[in-house]
Amino acid sequence: MLVLGIETSCDETSAAVVDENRIRSNIIATQQVHIKYGGVVPEFASRAHVKQLQHIVELALREADCALNNINGIAVTYGPGLAGSLLVGLCFAKGLALRLKIPFIGINHLEGHILATAANEPKQEYPYICLVASGGHTLLVYVAKPLVYEVIGSTIDDAAGEAFDKVAKILGLGYPGGPAVEKAARLGNELAVHFPRALLEPDNLNFSFSGLKTSVLYYVQSLSKDQLITQVNDISASFQKSVSDVLAAKAILAATKYDCKRLILAGGVARNNHLRETFEKTCKNQAIAFAVPSPELCTDNAGMIARAGLMRLAKGEHSDYTLDVFPNLALKT
Ligand SMILES: Nc1ncnc2c1ncn2[C@@H]1O[C@H](COP(=O)(O)OP(=O)(O)OP(=O)(O)O)[C@@H](O)[C@H]1O
Ligand SMILES: [Mg+2]
Repeated sequence: MLVLGIETSCDETSAAVVDENRIRSNIIATQQVHIKYGGVVPEFASRAHVKQLQHIVELALREADCALNNINGIAVTYGPGLAGSLLVGLCFAKGLALRLKIPFIGINHLEGHILATAANEPKQEYPYICLVASGGHTLLVYVAKPLVYEVIGSTIDDAAGEAFDKVAKILGLGYPGGPAVEKAARLGNELAVHFPRALLEPDNLNFSFSGLKTSVLYYVQSLSKDQLITQVNDISASFQKSVSDVLAAKAILAATKYDCKRLILAGGVARNNHLRETFEKTCKNQAIAFAVPSPELCTDNAGMIARAGLMRLAKGEHSDYTLDVFPNLALKT
């Protein structure tokens, strides 16, 4: 079975082909048009998807050494994300499915992130706890069996990735924020400033990052321009440590509470090496098996969407042509 995946929920235009065992191709074009605006401009994102999606799909098919007629189904993200961007991918997928007379299925982007580790290794062990830390979400999910999710914790304000992006702005590190903070942090002392870690009381599986962000802001406002220049790496490292500590503590708490011996980290923030190392160390100490997708499978990509689609199509599920986009789509439990 070959499934073509299409992902256009934000500023990555991506197409992929997967079979039952592995990803055959996963082409990701990150739109550069947003850099000069310091953030994603929704209309430019939709227009860039319109311009390049067909080309990206052709590249994915070519790299998979697969003709359009060999595709058995199409998986496409229908939410959450930017409405205009989602519409481009959904309409493209519907048109192609109609022409090829094959089923298509709308996939929740968050399910894609959860299944990113499975994209190249479909045989996963269950149950597991997955922490999705991305630009718009910070979710703890209990996955009892394939395609069944229970959200057991989430952020009450900012997402972890959003906090990285906002702190990068405060520090003048530019966009995209997460990689810029990580780069600066590599040269800094993570013990230089003690920033707060919120909601760490036992039993609380929710997150809060807005207090941390404000505390970075107040700290920066207390410095002169010259002091900020000399301290920017230390502030980055101290902030990054605070986020890593909280995410790891909550994930371990969830694993303990749900008596789960397997933990998966996913979403764009999971690219962060300090976070990956913190999880590896903590899980090892707690005798919990830990997995994290390769970096290109952490941020938005169609490989994870195609895997979710193949799993659902194989169960006989599919969508119909009335399917609309859902910018605020929640993870179905
Ligand atoms: N190395 C890194 N360190 C920290 N954060 C990172 C790193 N690389 C990317 N990020 C963050 O990951 C986020 C992007 O991840 P992703 O593409 O999964 O989010 P999204 O798709 O915009 O949101 P969502 O998946 O919640 O809809 C951004 O906030 C970015 O700053
Ligand atoms: Mg995402």
